[in-house]
Amino acid sequence: MSMERQYSHDLMKWLEKFSNELKVNENVTRNSSDVVGKVEGLLHQLKERSYIDAAYLRQLEKEAEQLYYDYLKIKTSSGQRSALNESTSRIPIGSHSLPKLPYQYDSLEPYIHRRIMELHHKKHHQSYVDGLNKAEKNLQEQRKKNKFENIKHWERELAFHGAGHYLHSLFWQVLSPKGGGKPKGELANQIDLDFEGFHSFKNHFSEAANGVEGSGWAILVWSPRVGRLEILTAEKHQNLTQWDVIPLLPLDVWEHAYYLQYENERHRYVNNWWNIINWPYVEERYKTAKRNIWLP
Ligand SMILES: [Fe+2]
Repeated sequence: MSMERQYSHDLMKWLEKFSNELKVNENVTRNSSDVVGKVEGLLHQLKERSYIDAAYLRQLEKEAEQLYYDYLKIKTSSGQRSALNESTSRIPIGSHSLPKLPYQYDSLEPYIHRRIMELHHKKHHQSYVDGLNKAEKNLQEQRKKNKFENIKHWERELAFHGAGHYLHSLFWQVLSPKGGGKPKGELANQIDLDFEGFHSFKNHFSEAANGVEGSGWAILVWSPRVGRLEILTAEKHQNLTQWDVIPLLPLDVWEHAYYLQYENERHRYVNNWWNIINWPYVEERYKTAKRNIWLP
């Protein structure tokens, strides 16, 4: 397949996904049917033409990106409402797909070589997507049968591939061929406040990244509880969260939480714990968490 054909195919797949997202969120885009119409128009052009040259493809991609940003603006401004209406997008179990890169494979050169980007995105990221879909479907099957076999293994698979998929999806978005420099505005102020200035933030972050053993990540995070930014490292991203999720209902199963009363019978403690959950609080937290909106 020629480069142009492959590129055109990828763009079409991405537009189809975008179009589905628009359909799922009909209530968000109800008053801006021009976005829906334009996306359909671009899809039509890609499907109808037997050959599209590289320059024209880039122009179509630019238009697609602009539409996507327009849509994000509309969605963010109606975020509160849509979150509470349960109308936010929902990826069905086992239906994750590889997100499109917001630039070309060679766009980050000379800092990151084209071939690295291509392998990293097409092979490595794709395998996280496949692994996550497999783990989710497997766990769904186990729930249906109410028979949980090898749960430790599948929870690990869910965390490993989920963390891989979500972190890579975020990783592509935080890079740009026109990137670099320093943050501005609110983020710059927060960094100054929490890290004694950009320079020491950058040093801290770089040192943390250099210190990660083996496969891993350095990650700037926001901590809603303390209202501060923090730098964390994930030496093995599978240990054991998905990094992008928000905890809603934790159950402490350290021995200190039950041993004096239940000794080695953890299952009795787990069973009884269901009698004391503060569900209204969990629901409130769920509603707050759901106000975060970011597209897959
Ligand atoms: Fe990676």
